[in-house]
Amino acid sequence: MKTENPSPASPNSPSLTAGIDALTVRMLGTGCYVPERIMTNTELETIVDTSEEWIRTRTGIGERRIARSGQATSDLALAASQQALETAGVMADELDLIVTATISPDMLMPNTACFVQSRLGAPAATCFDLEAACSGFLYSLEVARHLLLAGRMQTALVIGAEKLSAFTDWDDRNTCVLFGDGAGAVVLRAEPATTPVHGILSSVTGADGNLAHLLTLPGGGSRHPTSGETVAGRMHYLKMAGREVFKHAVRCMSDAANGALQKCGLTIDDVDCIVPHQANLRIIQAIGQRLNVPMDRFYMNLERYGNMSAASIPVALDEAVRNERIRPGDIVLMVAFGGGFTWGATVMRWGTAGNGR
Ligand code: ACO
Repeated sequence: MKTENPSPASPNSPSLTAGIDALTVRMLGTGCYVPERIMTNTELETIVDTSEEWIRTRTGIGERRIARSGQATSDLALAASQQALETAGVMADELDLIVTATISPDMLMPNTACFVQSRLGAPAATCFDLEAACSGFLYSLEVARHLLLAGRMQTALVIGAEKLSAFTDWDDRNTCVLFGDGAGAVVLRAEPATTPVHGILSSVTGADGNLAHLLTLPGGGSRHPTSGETVAGRMHYLKMAGREVFKHAVRCMSDAANGALQKCGLTIDDVDCIVPHQANLRIIQAIGQRLNVPMDRFYMNLERYGNMSAASIPVALDEAVRNERIRPGDIVLMVAFGGGFTWGATVMRWGTAGNGR
C-alpha cells in the first residue's frame, strides 16, 4: 500500500485530504487483551544463554506475555475487540468493516478478521487482514479511515493482534527475548467534523522493500513452501538483523513523526502524548533526542510486554486512555516502524464532548 507518498525524504502531500474535510474519523473506544502468563527475563535465562541484566539494559524489556497453547491470535483479538466495542457503546452488528493487522494470523487462509467477525456477530462487516509488521496497526487505521471518509462505510473495528510466541525461535537469543503476545482494538466512526476537529488529523505511511531481507519470517510462503527442509532450517521463525533494524527504525520513525505533524500544521510541542511502537527503549530514547522531546512525553509499556508488533500501539493507546495519560482534547502522536521495512505516523485529537472520552 502507498496511499500517499510517505517517504521521509518527500513529505506527504496535504492536497490529498482536500474534499474530505467535512467529515472526521474519530475513535469511539479502545480495548486490549494480554494473556495471563508472564515470562520474565529470569525465566529466559533458563531457556537461552542470556541474562536479566543484558535484556533490561539493551532493550528495556522486563517481562512479556505468552499465549496458551491452543490460544490463537483471533482469540486475543476477540477479547480486545469486545472491550473496544463495549467502551465505544457500539453493537457488533453496526460494524461495516473489520481489519486485523497481524504477522501471526491463525492460518494463511481465511483471514483473522473473519474469525473475529463470526464470533462477534458482525454480519455486515467487510473483513480482511493487513500485514505491515509492526506498522500494521497504523497502516490499517489509515486504510479504514479512508474507506470511512469515502462514504463507503460508517463504522470500523481496527485490531492489532499477535501471537508472536508461535513464530519465535526459542533457541535464538537474538530474537526470543524481544517479543510477546497481545491484542489491541479501536472502534472508528466517520462523523461530521467539529471545530476544532477531533479524531484523526493526519497520517503518513511508507515502505522500503529494498531492506526487506533485514527482518523476515521466510518459511511457509510460496517462496519456501513448508517442507522437511524449511522446518529443519528453522525458517518458520522470525529472523532479524537487530543492529541494522535499530538504525533505520530511529531515522524512519523520527521522520514519519515530523511528516505527520507537518501535514496537519502542528509541531512536536503541540503533542501531549506520543504512543510509539514499543520495540526497544533505546530506540525511543534516540527518537526523543532527535525530536527534542523529553521521555515523559512518550507512553511506554515495553517493560511489561516487550515487542508485540502490530499489537504494541493499540495496547499502549488503550492503557494510556484508561489511566488518563490521554485526556479529551489531547493531541496524540502514534509512530511505528517494522519489517518490510514499513513505517507510519498518525496524529489525532482525542475525544469529543459526545461521549466524554
Ligand atoms: N543475551 C545476551 N547477549 C546477547 C543477546 C541476549 N539475548 N542477544 C544478542 N546478544 C549478544 C550478541 O551476540 C552480541 O555479542 P557479540 O558482540 O559477542 O557478537 C552482543 O550481544 C551485541 O549484539 P547486538 O545485536 O549488537 O546488540 P544490540 O545492542 O544491537 O541489541 C537488539 C540487539 C536488542 C535486537 C537491538 O538491535 C534492537 O532492538 N533492534 C531493533 C529491533 C526492532 O526495532 N524491531 C522492529 C520491528 S520488529 C518487527 O517488525 C516484527
